[in-house]
Amino acid sequence: MYGIINQAIQELVTTNFGEDKWIQVLKISGVKEAFFLSNESYDDEVTYQLARAASEVLHLSLEEVLHTFGEFWVLHTGNKKYGSLMIAGGNNLKEFIVNLPVFHDRVSLIYSNLRQPEFEVSDLEENSIQLHYYSHRIGLTEFVRGLLFGLSKLYQTSSTIELLNCRDKGHDHDVFKISW
Ligand code: HEM
Repeated sequence: MYGIINQAIQELVTTNFGEDKWIQVLKISGVKEAFFLSNESYDDEVTYQLARAASEVLHLSLEEVLHTFGEFWVLHTGNKKYGSLMIAGGNNLKEFIVNLPVFHDRVSLIYSNLRQPEFEVSDLEENSIQLHYYSHRIGLTEFVRGLLFGLSKLYQTSSTIELLNCRDKGHDHDVFKISW
């Protein structure tokens, strides 16, 4: 994945837990790089190694790390570094989710070799929507749940996020129901 992702993991650990913890994470992860360039593509395994090491150092489950990272990505990285992209995503939670299927098309103008996630929406109702998440990668379900939590906070919309179906249970993609 692009270095911006690994940089954001570093920022999350450093900001919320301190520089010492980041040094430990890097050490036990086995990752050779001491820092990451945002627009260089790294092996996906680097990101997974960092997430697993953060789980060990911070005494959090891998799911908790991914969830926290998803929230941090929206509220800090997305909102602070890519404000205009986020604003173009929509004026409220519902609009943002409806537009999510094309969101990374704009991101790919910055990061041309992006292997982007695929989203579809269905069952749009007055107070809920279903979001379908397809990916080349595995194990990122809780990252997506964290991203959705972050979006709810960003738009100050109290919501519940239910996982209706997932690849862990043999489905070919993950299905979330977001209700507000
Ligand atoms: C301005 C905000 C955003 C930027 C700049 C951005 C950029 C990126 C980048 C660079 C990657 C790594 C892909 C690669 O290197 O091949 C990625 C992955 C991903 N992004 Fe975003 N993203 C943003 C917002 C979002 C939001 C709001 C969501 C969903 C709610 C989202 C969902 C994902 C997911 C699930 C992945 C993992 C890729 C996979 O499943 O294969 N992103 N994004």
